Amino acid sequence: MAFIRVLAIILISTLAYTTLAQDGIFDITNAKYGGKPDADITQALAKAFTDACASTTLSKVVVPAGKFLLKEAEFKGPCKAPIEFQVTGTIQAPEEAQDLTKPDTWVAFNHIDKLTLSGGGTFDGNGALSWKNNDCHKNTKCAKVVNLRFNFLTNSLIQGITCMNSKHFQINVLGGNNVTLKLVKVSAPADSVNTDGIHIGKSTGVSVLDSVIGTGDDCVSIGDGNKQITVTNLTCGPGHGIAIGSLGRYEKEEPVEGINVKNCTISNTSNGVRIKTWPASPQESSASDIHFEDIIMNNVSTPILIDQEYCPYNQCTNQVPSKVKISKISFKNIKGTSNTPLAVKLVCSKGVPCEGIELSGIDLKYTGDKGPITSQCTNVKPTITNVAQPLACATDAPVAADKAGPAEKSSD
Ligand SMILES: *[C@@H]1O[C@H](CO)[C@@H](O)[C@H](O)[C@H]1NC(C)=O
Ligand SMILES: *[C@@H]1O[C@H](CO)[C@@H](O)[C@H](O)[C@H]1NC(C)=O
Ligand SMILES: *[C@@H]1O[C@H](CO)[C@@H](O)[C@H](O)[C@H]1NC(C)=O
Ligand SMILES: *[C@@H]1O[C@H](CO)[C@@H](O)[C@H](O)[C@H]1NC(C)=O
Ligand SMILES: *[C@@H]1O[C@H](CO)[C@@H](O)[C@H](O)[C@H]1NC(C)=O
Repeated sequence: MAFIRVLAIILISTLAYTTLAQDGIFDITNAKYGGKPDADITQALAKAFTDACASTTLSKVVVPAGKFLLKEAEFKGPCKAPIEFQVTGTIQAPEEAQDLTKPDTWVAFNHIDKLTLSGGGTFDGNGALSWKNNDCHKNTKCAKVVNLRFNFLTNSLIQGITCMNSKHFQINVLGGNNVTLKLVKVSAPADSVNTDGIHIGKSTGVSVLDSVIGTGDDCVSIGDGNKQITVTNLTCGPGHGIAIGSLGRYEKEEPVEGINVKNCTISNTSNGVRIKTWPASPQESSASDIHFEDIIMNNVSTPILIDQEYCPYNQCTNQVPSKVKISKISFKNIKGTSNTPLAVKLVCSKGVPCEGIELSGIDLKYTGDKGPITSQCTNVKPTITNVAQPLACATDAPVAADKAGPAEKSSD
């Protein structure tokens, strides 16, 4: 009798546990949501999210293995409890930007606290067609569809997912606080236009860790209003390197402060680590406390760059200097190869010269045959330790335009 009672208790508690665990899972291929491989899951995903977001305990939206089509998704918080997205399959966007509901977003996660996105799956922006029409520097109506937007997330983790072939920027983090992107893979061809890997704006406490980004524009770009941003163990290339900016183009920009880029490998890119600001800024601003350390450069066109005359497509006038004050910047232990002779280029603003710039342990070799390796420092007097003479501000004169690096696409 006692034995049967114990058995019954075990059985009942097992059942209860199973039911509870199932309750927290919102699989888009369940009968209730009806998602099917090779079909559009826009409705299924939206419904699964609505239910998950209303759950008062931890919930999980599941997109299982397989290929799914998605017209658009907006996951809007706040949710009642922490929420996970486990995406294992590949989710693909429509090829034509006009077939999306919004002109600037494919998938957005908005105002969610304690979001976890993981599962090893892929968000494929299907962007090849859009790169051909990416003429945003002259066409203000051009589509700027971002693959994944993370807007105003707090205490969230994005881990082990792939984002590829976005129509425009691949991942955009805006207004985040305590957001970690880890083991993220971002890819697009080197010649895809404006496909910045991860752009971070107006955020505090964002970390990009152990990730691999190869794309057609900046691997990581860090815009205005960012604080406490960390990039570690990033493998970057092809692309345009790791950038702070561009800054100083628009009104009401906020300072950038506290950026640490460490342990990264940058290969086959047009720039390595750089800070870029527009001339003729509408207002004063600043970028300070920014540190680049332990970086390996392989075949990078301009490994170390401060460019306060950043002006792609000549969209501005260089007569008026940038009003973005750059200070407390260090470039430490940066080694490898440059594929242009001008490996270190620090061009600061004539109006607000750079202050507190430190170059130490810079060991770069030029691999081509267009003369010896060299460096340029304008409106800046860096502190230099352990840097060979040709890389230690060899010249303060402006260099010829044809040595100033490849033409940039607009990419703010
Ligand atoms: C940041 O978010 C993570 C979840 O990703 C959480 O574990 C951690 O406690 C948060 N940190 C702070 C300081 O709130
Ligand atoms: C660096 O990132 C790669 C993935 O890109 C990972 O495999 C490796 O373990 C990371 N290294 C460290 C020291 O965390
Ligand atoms: C940097 O990389 C080295 C070697 O891979 C590793 O031992 C170290 O933990 C890394 N440091 C950081 C801060 O990731
Ligand atoms: C750099 O580009 C060359 C030529 O395309 C390629 O062979 C090489 O693997 C690339 N290096 C890295 C580290 O990606
Ligand atoms: C160096 O990078 C350029 C692109 O910037 C590429 O065409 C070339 O193949 C690369 N060379 C090597 C040796 O990786």
